[in-house]
Formats: sequence, C-alpha cells, structure tokens
Amino acid sequence: MVKRITVMPGDGIGPEVTEAAVEVLRAVARRYGHAFQFTYAAIGGDAIDQYGKPLPDETIAVCEASDAALLGAVGGPKWDQQPSHLRPERGLLDIRKKFDLFTNIRPVKAVPSLLGSSPLKEEVAREVDMVIVRELTSGLYFGEPKQRSPKSAVDTLVYTRAEIERIVDQAFQIARTRKGKVTSVDKANVLETSKLWREVVEERMTAYPDVEVEHMLVDTAAMKLITNPRSFDVIVTENMFGDILSDEASVITGSLGMLPSASTRTDGFGIYEPVHGSAPDIAGQNKANPTAAILSAAMMLKYSFGLHTEAAAVEEAVAGVLEDGYCTGDIAGEGKRVISTGAFAAQVIEELERE
Ligand code: NAI
Ligand code: MG
Repeated sequence: MVKRITVMPGDGIGPEVTEAAVEVLRAVARRYGHAFQFTYAAIGGDAIDQYGKPLPDETIAVCEASDAALLGAVGGPKWDQQPSHLRPERGLLDIRKKFDLFTNIRPVKAVPSLLGSSPLKEEVAREVDMVIVRELTSGLYFGEPKQRSPKSAVDTLVYTRAEIERIVDQAFQIARTRKGKVTSVDKANVLETSKLWREVVEERMTAYPDVEVEHMLVDTAAMKLITNPRSFDVIVTENMFGDILSDEASVITGSLGMLPSASTRTDGFGIYEPVHGSAPDIAGQNKANPTAAILSAAMMLKYSFGLHTEAAAVEEAVAGVLEDGYCTGDIAGEGKRVISTGAFAAQVIEELERE
C-alpha cells in the first residue's frame, strides 16, 4: 500500500516524539511491504517563526495532497505574549476546522505496569479499555451569536440533525470493531440539543442491531468514569461534554505521555497527535515519552488506512517494551530501566521486527 503522510512536528518535544513515530512507521512499512512517503510541514510556533502565521497555506497544501497527517504538539513560552490570532494553538483549531475533522477519537487504555501511578485505586483502573468519540467542530464552541455586553454574555449551543448523525455513525462503526457497546452521553433532561441528540441516536441505532446502546446523562457519566470506568466501551458525546470527559478519563492511565488521539472525517483523512502538549520543560533533551505519538501513528494505520493488523502489531510492540521494564523518565519507578526517546523508539522497532 502506498500512502502519503504529512508530518507536522510543531514545537517543544513535538519534533522528538514525531520523529520516534515516523521511525516506527518506517519499520512497519519495511515489515509489511508498504510504501509510506513523508512530507514535513510547519505548524504552531514553528510556522509563526518561518511564515509569520500558525497555519501557513503551504501546510494546508501539503495536507491536502496527503492521505493522513501526524502532528507533534504546539505552543511554548516564546509565543505566549502574541495576540490570539498569532498564537500557536490557533493553528490546531484552524486546521481541524479547515479539514472538517468533526470526529475526535481518544482511546484510554490501562497499562498494567503503570497502574500504580493512576489516581484511582488499582482494582478500579485495572483493565480499563474505552474510546471517547467527541464531536469537534460544532456545539457551544462554535455557535453564533457569541456576544458580550457589560452586563451579560451569550454563547449559543446549536446542533443540526446532520451533524449529530455523522458523529453517531462514526461511534457505531468504531464500536463494531471493539466490544460492541455505545454509551451516548447527553443532558436530555434539560437541553433541547440533547433531546435531538437522543432522538438521532435512537434512529441511527436501528442500522446497527449488533451494537448495544445506552443513554447516560453527563453528570452520571462523570461519576461513572471514576467509580466504574471498566463499564465503558465507546462513549459518544457533543463537543463540550467530550472536552471535559476526555480530560477526566485521561488521568485514569496515570501518564499524559501515553495517550494518543485522532481527529477524523468520513473519507479517511485524519490528523493524529498525542494528547499532551509541547512540554517546554523537557524539550530538546531526548527524554520525552514517545508512546503517545507512536500510538497515534498506530491509530493512523487503523482509522485512515484500514491496516488493522499493522496497528495491532505496533500496539503490542509498545506494550511489550513497557512490560520488559523499559520506559522514559516520566513513568520511571522501581525496577524500571529509564531510556531516551530515541532508544525507546528503537526498542519498539526491535520488538516489531521480532513479532
Ligand atoms: P504539557 O502536556 O506540555 O506538559 C505537562 C507536563 O507533562 C509537563 O511537566 C511535561 O514535561 C509533561 N509531559 C507532557 N508530555 C510528556 C511526554 N511525552 N513525556 C514526558 N513528559 C511529558 O502541558 P502544559 O505544560 O500545560 O503546556 C505546555 C505547552 O503546550 C503550552 O504552550 C500549551 O499551550 C501547549 N499545549 C499544546 C497542546 C497540543 O499541541 N495539542 C495540548 C496541551 C498543551
Ligand atoms: Mg481539554
């Protein structure tokens, strides 16, 4: 299979962790006989420095000519004083909107050897394996009018039937490849948008008789995530609820450096990036944890290219390296062997080639 991949390293540890992910993708291509072509493009602070704006037209053109994109992270103290349209984070929001990436997918999976660093009790966090599917381009963050007067402020929450249908369909399709359960999260006892959301889920579920569906109010879901996170398979929800619940869920695994994410649409194109930021405190030291970036590359193989075997092989290789006790400094502990970003990627590749 021939695929064109855009690589946007960004700022801080972004270049280090994306390089690790690219090396792993090169190994996958060798091992399974694919041709992946990588083209580099600037985003965030890196793009501000080179082009004077966080999302240059050159980068958009490179993405448009590719099948999927890998992104590191953006931001850092150097650009913190910039006006908002010139901030690195603007590049991320703009690229998601530009490419209509309405589906944000965040898997949360417990890593056995790291359960000790979860804020939850080990017996609660053990065997957690869920995916949060968040609507990313509509809802309260984008609804108009957005207004401010001296005495009041307005935000608008709008969802169209079509916007709900397409995200719900994505969640059903993901559930089919997993344990076959969808939890739809809303606030249907109060919000009109949530009543419509629930109606659409009820309609769409008839097309997926093999998937089990439950509705849950967002406040209940927030509680269940910390009391019984194992009960979830796929959670689908609107933009703001998804923002909050996915950050809540992200602490279950105990390290930010472990969590991948994808922002996709229906034709296969997507942007794959770690959940963590640019970590300026450790940038340039070859000690960032590349796990989230490598697992983001595995999500690309799965969701953009349909390469499920290859994706599973990468996930297993990462798990194998962690089980062998190798890790980066952020997840160091008793009996662990702390290695560099580059050495971790090399271990994953060795494991892949051995499988
Ligand atoms: P952060 O995620 O960059 O760092 C938080 C803490 O976790 C730091 O101590 C950092 O060293 C550590 N950490 C994060 N990723 C790690 C990894 N892979 N390996 C080892 N340790 C890791 O969040 P913070 O400090 O709030 O933000 C730093 C910059 O990143 C800011 O400019 C912020 O705007 C930006 N940011 C960018 C995001 C993105 O590009 N998607 C997301 C979040 C923040
Ligand atoms: Mg958030």
